[in-house]
Amino acid sequence: MKYGFFDDEKREYVIETPFTPLPWINYLGSQEFFGLISNTGGGYCFYRDAKLRRLTRFRYNCVPRDTGGRMFYINDNGTIWSPTFLPSKTPLDSYRCRHGMGYTIFESGKNGVETQLTCFVPLDVNCEVNRLVIKNSSDMTKDLSIVSAVEFCLWNAVDDSTNFQRNYNIGEVEVEGSVIYHKTEYRERRNHYAFYSVNQKTAGFDTDLDSFLGRFNSYDTPQAVINGRSGNTVAHGWSPIGSHRLEYTLSPGEEKEIIFILGYIELPGNEKWEGPAANGVINKKPAQELAAKYGNSETVKKELGDLALYWNDLLGRYEADTGDKKLDRMVNIWNQYQCMTTFNMSRSASYYESGTGRGMGFRDSCQDLLGFVHMVPGRARERILDIAAIQFKSGGAWHQYQPLTKRGNADAGMGFNDDPLWLIACTYAYIAETGDYSILDELVPFDNKEGTERPLFEHLRASFNYTLNNLGPHKLPLIGRADWNDCLNLNCFSEEPGESFQTCANIESEAESVFIAGMFVLYGAQFAELCDKKGYTDEADAARREIKNMSEAVLAHGWDGEWFLRAYDSNGDKVGSKECNDGKIFIEPQGMCVMAGIGVDSGEAVKALTSMKERLTFEYGTCLVAPAYKEYHLKLGEISSYPPGYKENGSVFCHNNPWASIAETRVGNAEEAFEIYRRTCPAYIENISEIHRTEPYVYSQTIAGQESPAPGEAKNSWLTGTAAWTFVNISQYLLGIRPELDGLRIAPCLPKHYDKMRVKRVYRGAVYEISFERSIDKGVWVGGKKIEGNIVPAANEGDVVQVKVQM
Ligand code: BGC
Ligand code: NOJ
Repeated sequence: MKYGFFDDEKREYVIETPFTPLPWINYLGSQEFFGLISNTGGGYCFYRDAKLRRLTRFRYNCVPRDTGGRMFYINDNGTIWSPTFLPSKTPLDSYRCRHGMGYTIFESGKNGVETQLTCFVPLDVNCEVNRLVIKNSSDMTKDLSIVSAVEFCLWNAVDDSTNFQRNYNIGEVEVEGSVIYHKTEYRERRNHYAFYSVNQKTAGFDTDLDSFLGRFNSYDTPQAVINGRSGNTVAHGWSPIGSHRLEYTLSPGEEKEIIFILGYIELPGNEKWEGPAANGVINKKPAQELAAKYGNSETVKKELGDLALYWNDLLGRYEADTGDKKLDRMVNIWNQYQCMTTFNMSRSASYYESGTGRGMGFRDSCQDLLGFVHMVPGRARERILDIAAIQFKSGGAWHQYQPLTKRGNADAGMGFNDDPLWLIACTYAYIAETGDYSILDELVPFDNKEGTERPLFEHLRASFNYTLNNLGPHKLPLIGRADWNDCLNLNCFSEEPGESFQTCANIESEAESVFIAGMFVLYGAQFAELCDKKGYTDEADAARREIKNMSEAVLAHGWDGEWFLRAYDSNGDKVGSKECNDGKIFIEPQGMCVMAGIGVDSGEAVKALTSMKERLTFEYGTCLVAPAYKEYHLKLGEISSYPPGYKENGSVFCHNNPWASIAETRVGNAEEAFEIYRRTCPAYIENISEIHRTEPYVYSQTIAGQESPAPGEAKNSWLTGTAAWTFVNISQYLLGIRPELDGLRIAPCLPKHYDKMRVKRVYRGAVYEISFERSIDKGVWVGGKKIEGNIVPAANEGDVVQVKVQM
């Protein structure tokens, strides 16, 4: 069942009912000011940091779900309705929510009144614009009142939802004209305030939540709306809100445009006040300017146009025309869009990540980069340097850092032994994309300590050596706290309810990870290539010897007969082996070892992938582990804390499905490689939205697995490394256009029925127009000439290069 449709022309997903199985959301904003917005107008806004600079409140486990956000009420002769359906819940005569690139539009109607509400954040501007166009389409004159509402968050979202003894005293606002200013804590240490304006003369306002709602009402029926009277209240403490009342008489056919702005203003200390600080009157000038500028119809049109150009540019760097609409819309629009969202949000703010928890993950950020580096290479460069600065001299790293401070976050710990190798992966990807080797010479401190700055290259060397310096009894890498699978905690024996498996006390053991061994072979080889480019030939040779040793160790001790083992636990017992009762086979080492080329020539790779398909793959994807753990295993950690079929315990953990797919391309199995891609790809499963439940235009972290009670049900949409990895898979391995140090490698691996296609790829400033067709005469032609091999060297900036591929 579907709840909407893709409008590829406009790059929108159009939702046709508010009754989606879950809130289906979109993101607004591209630089510092962001908003989350659901298909019923829910969500919240923040400036840079969803925890520390939250502008509007959101209650995560609110009942009913998704209350709050941008609230509008239209009172048409006693019928009260909302253009976004919520909060009033009045059935609408028509409803559409169009989620597009950085904007969301609601088109609704009731009793001959039609509204169009456009929500977006202009590029580089710290505000959200809500433009409401309201039209009387009936043949009678209508007296309409419109009430808006937002509920302010007292900035620190955690404090806001916990520290009530203080919070109920501190709320402060000012109201002047049609602008409501939220200035809580501005009198003391804050130099920022928020405002909520409307570009019209108001007929009233409210800023005090309790007076607005009335004693026992909630947002569906606020007293001020029901009674048709705003209280002109000025909040002192409790919960400050911003609400405007507008009243119009519209004759038949008449329409009115109203522009609301929710903005954020920061001022230097000496400009904070209008007059003496003791008067407590804030300097409103910058807010008034912003409200005036964006509260203007022409400006709004222009800004929407600029936003479209911004996305044209970003998405115009990889455009496929394969003849398969579903594939094209994912590649050209939604997958790349989601990659940019993970760039902006990391794992902080979604409808499942509260924005108050995690900072930027080391491994998460490195992997996200693989998916957006072609769109924003300059910002990717900056990101790499930030990440490298939380590495230690040993090569190990803090597992997370805070975006505001860019410092390692001690709360999230260290010792996740896969982390260092991801730094090689993302740096290699950056150079392969840009050809910019200068990044390797950038001086980057260790653990952000002044005086420890060394060239980035030395950080990569430290990453490579970290694995070698931490080998176990089988010469396989020690796992540490965990590797990619945060929940396989082989050194943590937790019996304390609620304790974090990622940060609680760890024992010292020699538990080893076959997965990290695969990573070492894959990314070690990239390190060796970079050594060559730097002219460090001996180091490159030495690295390759270590890689060879590691491959041998994997085949000697990491091979279980039919598939790759997952690990050795703290006792030296096998994890992910036929000898285990549950947890016999894991997806990660099958994907990673084969991606690294281990066992490709000697036959283990194909065997491993066959076992993977037999044991882990079902209709909705390839599960992480099977059989899932049925009971808690003290020595395995969090993985066995999840019920069977969920999360790391045997869901389809979408992040690693692309590894499995890439592995299939490594052994030339195009059909299954594509099937793996297709099974979890949102556009292909749109018509089972009632089962999948999350948004059909973006990936979710997990899909309940074959052993769960609800197979196929997805959870935790949007902020997942799946976005980057599926884009790497489809763009570089299935369509097969892969940036490498010496140019674009062209190696498509697609099922037979994809027999003719075109891809436009912008690469190092040149445009490659690549056309593919099937032929027995295989090869790659550049500008009409057949080349040796399949690497198309980088052209000059501005060149348009015609590439013909016969596959
Ligand atoms: C989740 C993991 C996540 C980890 C760290 C666990 O509860 O299952 O997916 O990586 O927490 O935040
Ligand atoms: C989500 C985390 O953000 C990521 O770092 C981890 O690799 C996966 N969960 C798997 O545990």
